[in-house]
Amino acid sequence: MGYVGRSSNGKIAGYGALDVVLEGLRRLEYRGYDSAGVAVVADGVISSRKKSGKLNNLLVELEENPLPDSLTGIGHTRWATHGGPSDQNAHPHLADGGKLALIHNGIIENFAELKLELVGKGVTFLSETDTEVAAALLADIFRSKLNGDVSDGGLTRAMQLACQRLEGAFTLLAVHADQPDVVVAARRNSPLVVGLGEGENFLGSDVSGFIDHTRRAVELGQDQIVTITADTVEITDFFGAPAEGKEYHVNWDPESAEKGGFASFMEKEIHDQPDAVAQTLLGRSDIHGRLTLDELRIDVELLKSVNKIIVLACGTSAYAGQVAKYAIEHWCRIPTEVELSHEFRYRDPIVDGNTLVVSISQSGETMDTLMAVRYAKEQGAKTLSICNTNGSTIPRESDAVLYTHAGPEIAVASTKAFLAQITAAYLLGLYLAQLRGNKFQGEIKDILADLGKIPAKIQRILDNEGQIKDLGRSMADAKSVLFLGRHVGFPVAMEGALKLKELAYIHAEGFAAGELKHGPIALIEEGQPVFVVVPSPRGRDSLHSKVVSNIQEVRARGAKTIVIAEEGDEAVKAYAEHVFYIPEAPTLLAPLLATVPLQIFALELAQAKGYDVDQPRNLAKSVTVE
Ligand code: M6R
Repeated sequence: MGYVGRSSNGKIAGYGALDVVLEGLRRLEYRGYDSAGVAVVADGVISSRKKSGKLNNLLVELEENPLPDSLTGIGHTRWATHGGPSDQNAHPHLADGGKLALIHNGIIENFAELKLELVGKGVTFLSETDTEVAAALLADIFRSKLNGDVSDGGLTRAMQLACQRLEGAFTLLAVHADQPDVVVAARRNSPLVVGLGEGENFLGSDVSGFIDHTRRAVELGQDQIVTITADTVEITDFFGAPAEGKEYHVNWDPESAEKGGFASFMEKEIHDQPDAVAQTLLGRSDIHGRLTLDELRIDVELLKSVNKIIVLACGTSAYAGQVAKYAIEHWCRIPTEVELSHEFRYRDPIVDGNTLVVSISQSGETMDTLMAVRYAKEQGAKTLSICNTNGSTIPRESDAVLYTHAGPEIAVASTKAFLAQITAAYLLGLYLAQLRGNKFQGEIKDILADLGKIPAKIQRILDNEGQIKDLGRSMADAKSVLFLGRHVGFPVAMEGALKLKELAYIHAEGFAAGELKHGPIALIEEGQPVFVVVPSPRGRDSLHSKVVSNIQEVRARGAKTIVIAEEGDEAVKAYAEHVFYIPEAPTLLAPLLATVPLQIFALELAQAKGYDVDQPRNLAKSVTVE
């Protein structure tokens, strides 16, 4: 966060830089939370406080050691890369004899070489971070190249020169005691947005940092420097040439970024899911069931000529991609591969002008996915982004975008974004089928009608969540939980396992149920909890009976079986310790329902263990480093 305000008496409308920055950090804390720090400029002096641990630790420190009133400030919450999460390694880092403070997201890849050079010049370092190297470099340039002269650009010029020497991915924000009314920032491969106010301006990793104050935001381009004062925003490239950002209106409701009466953001977001799916479907088809995705802004002829689709994503978004594969191949008959972005990027994938690369990302900032998309573009592929964050980097750099409309997702564990991603992927699959004539219009209309019924069905699951909550609480002592599924139930099983790992720190694995007998069944011993996602008995009967056999196999070896099955499926009862019924849905659409009890289970179990479900240990919401 960065802020500059204007006033005659040291405060604007009752608040100062520290209030704005801390409030912004509170909203942005989900991005990283192993330490936090702030710096303000007051009376020509930089004052800074920083503390390891969550933002609350910093707030306690600020109570004990308050900072002076100020109208210029920066603040940071960290997800450690170089150097552990200690007070010392927390940002801001000071340089120029304490006159310059700098915060940083990302990784400076050539920091070791720069550090050697600076040590050679007599600079001493207090932390293990690459950030302190960037601060020292900036200070060195400001002092030795510009002689500390603030009349001709000063800190802005120094930032331009420093960025020319930095390699890697970074967002940097700096303040200097000699330029007390200015925050200078730079971005390369790492997010940064400007918020435009009246007599005040803001900087944030994303707009949630300042939506309480303004809905006017400016997207910065790659390799740009921005200098904000209370009244001005000036953008240049790294060489000082004037540049422009793109202004847009933020339509997120600040309230939707709040908990809305729930105990955690995650619980709220699970309960937002009927709406997330409904909003993602809204306005995308006409009354004849014709999909109207003109917003994609991609040449229709090009989509018709696609002969291969590669879906790229990480984590939960990759599981959404796996569901997409089943649907797209079934509806469009286009071979579809799903690959983890970081694996795709470093092999030698076969991609050409007829390949459509579909990236899926909630944040739109995941570095692994961004790099994979760039690589695919270089290889000539057409790129389409399914994304939840308007104006973020991945959709901006893609040829086309299909936004999910889940609203802001704050909890680190993805829930509503997952269902919205699956929904958007279905829309894409149906749209391709419509364009290419793989399906009759009536068939598409019927599937859309089925999709339209999903939000109410999710709501029914949520209205009856008591049973799964009880089970989650009762299993707080479980050491390991396995999840099995076939077909689209397989990615659901993996997502169920991921939720449990990241929230409750329990060993959990999702397996393709058919794979069990090839090894994992050896894990089954007396009392081992096994969730089984059972497909509809109405659809592909062979699939259903195979999964029922898998339940019997693990049960025969002592497993405690917990089954997610469709209402009316009596066949599973005999083999299940617990059955959770979900409403009927066509097989391909069932993940939108079957996932929900697994999310609630993980949430409850983690809460019963006393863990922070919104900010699990070691994680960050947007993984903006490779
Ligand atoms: O923002 P993205 O969708 O690109 O994020 C991808 C993953 O980092 C994310 O889904 C992660 O796995 C979540 N913590 C899962 O809950």
